[in-house]
Amino acid sequence: MHGPTLTNWIDLIYLVTAVGFILALKGLSSPKQARNGNILAAVAATIAVVATFFNPDAQFHHKTTNLILTLVAMVLGAVIAVPVARKVKMTAMPQLVAIFNGVGGGAAALISITVFLQHSQLSAKPAVYVIAEGIIGLLIGCVSFSGSAIAFAKLQELMTGRPITYPGQQVINALVGLAIAVMAVLTVLTGSVTLMVITVALSLVLGIIFVLPIGGADVPVLISLLNSFTGLAVAASGFTLNNNLLIIAGTLVGASGIMLTQMMSKAMGRSLANVLFSAFGSVVTAGGGADGTGETRTVKSGTPEDIGVLLAYARKVVIVPGYGLAVAQAQHTARELADMLMERGVEVFYAIHPVAGRMPGHMNVLLAEANVPYDELKEMDDANAVMSTVDVALVVGANDTVNPAAKNTPGSPIFGMPIINADEAEHVVFLKRSMRPGFAGIDNDLLFNEKTTLLFGDAKDTLTKLVSSVNDA
Ligand code: TAP
Repeated sequence: MHGPTLTNWIDLIYLVTAVGFILALKGLSSPKQARNGNILAAVAATIAVVATFFNPDAQFHHKTTNLILTLVAMVLGAVIAVPVARKVKMTAMPQLVAIFNGVGGGAAALISITVFLQHSQLSAKPAVYVIAEGIIGLLIGCVSFSGSAIAFAKLQELMTGRPITYPGQQVINALVGLAIAVMAVLTVLTGSVTLMVITVALSLVLGIIFVLPIGGADVPVLISLLNSFTGLAVAASGFTLNNNLLIIAGTLVGASGIMLTQMMSKAMGRSLANVLFSAFGSVVTAGGGADGTGETRTVKSGTPEDIGVLLAYARKVVIVPGYGLAVAQAQHTARELADMLMERGVEVFYAIHPVAGRMPGHMNVLLAEANVPYDELKEMDDANAVMSTVDVALVVGANDTVNPAAKNTPGSPIFGMPIINADEAEHVVFLKRSMRPGFAGIDNDLLFNEKTTLLFGDAKDTLTKLVSSVNDA
């Protein structure tokens, strides 16, 4: 009887790392465990990469130049990615995810192309299913690569964030999709390099034209979907390379990406089809304070002193954070204010909307950075259940996620989106810089409500002023 071979040992390591990835995903599902989950995933990925260097099936065992090229690519990647990831601002995270995801899809596509070219030089053609696996990886990877590049450009404001639409757009997209399907089948049947190149080109075009009509406000959802595509492309590469770990890891990314996409769409009260095909945000409906009749409405603005007194003598205060809190980097000051109020005996909690900010968990991460205890955070439904007992809702740089039009205005683009019911609190205080709308580009009636007071300014400045006025109250 023979003992286990090196390949058996490598497979065992892959199995253990696959379990590590699954446990990491479990960790990521709760803010308390998310950091540990991330570390576990990174450790598992490192072990898998190191093990691959000893894998007798890996390509670089046949050629030293392959090994050198792999190491050079890894060093280059690390030199570029590590400083970028360390320096990125929390508000620019979605575009970083887009670009990282894009290169992942591109890498998976390149693997498929390389293997296809290798096969095309063999005298004995591989089985049809082997070519098919490669072509599937190639086309999904290409769509993910070019789609992510456009998503990055939109979020980085290298191009307009508004949906780009033209007549017959969906028909053209469908025709390109159909042409890809036909080319892919022909490529599989003939093994023709020319047809493979046409499939690559058409897939890159599809990625671009698929993303163009999606507005900036929906791009984070799209990125999650493209992330799922990249996972599937990686799984396909796993079949091509006969690597079980790539199959498992790619499938995990594909499945969790699609679930996250669904959850984000649901949190915005919209179907995924609506997010992808409705060109949401092509019309800006914010009227700078005009109501439906065209008359200009007025708002009530307050001083930090008045609002400080209101907060200091309240029984219950809810802080509703939004994207503006992240822009202002005001999480530490928000916590300082909350702590000071709690010391005075005020009950304080934070209400977290699932799509507050620009990506899933954005607010949780920001508040965790300021060491806000998890038990002070309430998810939207729990916060809404007690909102009518709240004295002051302090809305810090949030807008769409508290806009009552989502409940009351059937024609509104955000109608149906679940919101934090800040309007049910006795008083509402908004900290924002101007009357500009939020991401969805629509007016917010709550700003004009008589129970609302506005404190204009950068959230960090206004919160700092509130800290000192509460201190003096
Ligand atoms: P928004 O509706 O975008 O509102 C943010 C508000 O912050 C703006 O009204 C802005 O007003 C204010 N602001 C910006 N910078 C500020 C600063 N330095 N100091 C103070 N205020 C500042 O944000 P939200 O309520 O968090 O809603 C999130 C939006 O993103 C929703 O439309 C949601 O659908 C969309 N979205 C989110 C996700 C995820 S997963 N998070 C995914 C897809 C889409 P001023 O300019 O007047 O200051």
